Amino acid sequence: MKGVVLAGGSGSRLYPLTRITNKHLLPVYDKPMIFHPIETLVRAGIAEIMVVTGGNNAGDFLRLLGNGRDFGLKQIHYAYQEREGGVAEALSLAEDFVAGDRCVLVLGDNVIEDDISEFVAHFAAQPAGARILLKEIDDRRHLVHLGVAVLNDHRVVRIMEKPRDPPSAYAVTGVYMYDAGVFDIVRTLVPSGRGELEITDVINEYIRRGLMEYDILNGFWGDAGESIDHYMTVITYVAKHWRKRKARGRAS
Ligand code: DAU
Repeated sequence: MKGVVLAGGSGSRLYPLTRITNKHLLPVYDKPMIFHPIETLVRAGIAEIMVVTGGNNAGDFLRLLGNGRDFGLKQIHYAYQEREGGVAEALSLAEDFVAGDRCVLVLGDNVIEDDISEFVAHFAAQPAGARILLKEIDDRRHLVHLGVAVLNDHRVVRIMEKPRDPPSAYAVTGVYMYDAGVFDIVRTLVPSGRGELEITDVINEYIRRGLMEYDILNGFWGDAGESIDHYMTVITYVAKHWRKRKARGRAS
């Protein structure tokens, strides 16, 4: 299983903070944002990871992450996205790296409290297809900024991207697991109204084929790139709870 972290895009929702640097290099409590998704993958036992970046300060990722020794990795692979072509386009740059294997894609601005090992194991046991992680969010005003799952009889029947009227309380988080067929699906996509290849279209194609499964995250999940207010919410949560967790770790 390969891991892919996406760290491109313009980060325009965090302007002016991101005018001079890449969003994923901004701090989330005591670490740069991108440390969080990389640690999520490493905790799940994924040792081969590619970071896809682009936009501002791409070279800083090399200086920051190097060969991944801080994470116990032997090497980190890198790809450069030349224009903001969307999440699915950024994923397509990892095709040679994934090389016919399966992959877990994590969006570089996602902060996930749960250890996702169990969910990755569920995916490994799936004969084929894809798997997404959902998070229950009660605030409908928050859901309008996210992908939201339409559920029927415990199946995901569709994903709606940033719906005006959220069809359920289940947000699509930025953790996606795909079999090797994902790159062929990306090749069939056409750019959306905002000129991007949308990851939601990839998910909907897997759903159409009857090959989409899901799990639900229990712990905290946040998209630190959603807005400046949400960025602060994520930092506040991490500062309060991660600090406690670290202190417990040191005490035991
Ligand atoms: O965080 C969860 C949400 O992420 C999901 O609920 C949505 O369904 C999904 O579409 C996505 O929505 P966002 O509006 O948050 O996507 P955003 O444009 O912020 O991009 C997500 C990440 O992917 C971000 O870390 C930057 C990276 N990215 C984005 C684009 C457009 C790239 O690496 N290249 C790109 O071209």
